[in-house]
Amino acid sequence: MKTNIPETAQLIPSDFVIIGGSGDLSVRKIIPALFWRFLDNQINNKSGIIVCVRSKINIDELESKLIPHCQEAIEDKPENKIHWNNFLNLLTIVNLDVVSGQGSSELSSILTNKIGTSRPFIFYLAISSSLFGKACNLINKEGLNLPQSRLVVEKPIGHNKSSAIEINNQFAQYFEEHQIYRIDHYLGKETVQNLMALRFANTFFENQWNNKNIDNVQITVAESIGVADRISYYNEYGAIRDMLQNHLLQLICLVAMEPPSYFEADQVRDEKLRVLKSLRVLDNKDMQTGQYQSYENELGKVSSTETFISLKVDIDNWRWAGVPFYVRTGKKLSTRASEIVITFKKKPHDIFSKIKEGKEEDTPNRLIIRVQPQEGLKLKLTSKAPGPGGMRFFPSELNLSFGETFSDRLPDAYERLLMDVARGNQTLFMRLDEVLAAWDYIDPILEKATLDRPQLYIEGTMGPEDNILSTNGHQWIDPQEEDK
Ligand code: BG6
Repeated sequence: MKTNIPETAQLIPSDFVIIGGSGDLSVRKIIPALFWRFLDNQINNKSGIIVCVRSKINIDELESKLIPHCQEAIEDKPENKIHWNNFLNLLTIVNLDVVSGQGSSELSSILTNKIGTSRPFIFYLAISSSLFGKACNLINKEGLNLPQSRLVVEKPIGHNKSSAIEINNQFAQYFEEHQIYRIDHYLGKETVQNLMALRFANTFFENQWNNKNIDNVQITVAESIGVADRISYYNEYGAIRDMLQNHLLQLICLVAMEPPSYFEADQVRDEKLRVLKSLRVLDNKDMQTGQYQSYENELGKVSSTETFISLKVDIDNWRWAGVPFYVRTGKKLSTRASEIVITFKKKPHDIFSKIKEGKEEDTPNRLIIRVQPQEGLKLKLTSKAPGPGGMRFFPSELNLSFGETFSDRLPDAYERLLMDVARGNQTLFMRLDEVLAAWDYIDPILEKATLDRPQLYIEGTMGPEDNILSTNGHQWIDPQEEDK
């Protein structure tokens, strides 16, 4: 199946200002995402991309940094080499020092003659959150915090609730909430959005989606890579702040939220907020942290930063009372896979029990939502083995692989999110109250995490042993081993 970008999805000419433009995020994610959207004609050549850099760099140097991350797009079609050169023409490099403010007038001179048009000015702060306040001051000083301006910032916002409030106050000095786009790139992933389609564009699952029918929910976001050159950032944050506070809590919200009346930014975010506010304070016994064995060696010092966390999340509301949500994430695990596994309750009575030969296991129905890689959905069922040998059973599955169903590539999360910013659609961005409610849940977990050192685990495993699930009569369903 081919998906075409509908006419309405094309952007009006916009200016993307990337502060921290030669950094890792910009080079690996933001600019390549803009290039893919340019190739699909969603961004036309009347738009501008202003790459603000602290250390001088010329366009050739920037291009060679970008090439490895844009290679796939450049090679996608023979004509893309020409499109690449046209795309490079949209880029303007500005030398900007956010701390001293040097270079800010050059930035404003590029934008000044566009003030008074309806062009969105999109300021993407791809810099450390400690510089957010300075960047906002600078935008204000140059008179660029206009009604058409939007601010894009990455998670995690702060390292606890009070620092998140401080940072948000810095934004609020110059920007209204409707101008602030807090990115959690998991919300831009196709399968994550498909979760909303699955639940709310169909009746089939929603009728089952509660504690009468669901036994437990498991969410695994496993990474096989370590922290590599981000180690100094990571050591300050750890898995709880880097992944749980945002990506995993957002996944929980999308699985657990009530249907909003309409798919509109505030309605969706109101429902997610209700989930966050229903999370029960975590019990000490319901969490386990871990650190991969070579972490301290890589860091070059002793550290109690967790590279793994697993926990049981309870949602105190009518729909989910009694249904544990088991959640885990970690670095240097045996595989890279993100999955949501919904295990349904066992049948109330087995009419086949008397005729079953041997000890066929009674596997419950499971819905597996594969977020990445090999995005798709699987529904695990029990079927009759064909043939005249009586009623024998085998586990079977309905399998929807997005990769096979849609011939087009699945766009990267940043492509969708950047286009939403330009169109002014905040549905997939975190509102301030959501961020603060997430910290309300996380702050006590961070405190608990300081009580014990994380348990060491061997790289290439699924993290340290925990008995969080076994005490509840459950066990982890590892990605690719769902048949257990
Ligand atoms: C980022 C985290 O937000 O998400 C990283 O800071 C993590 O530590 C990454 O590796 C995972 O994203 P993805 O899209 O590769 O699953």
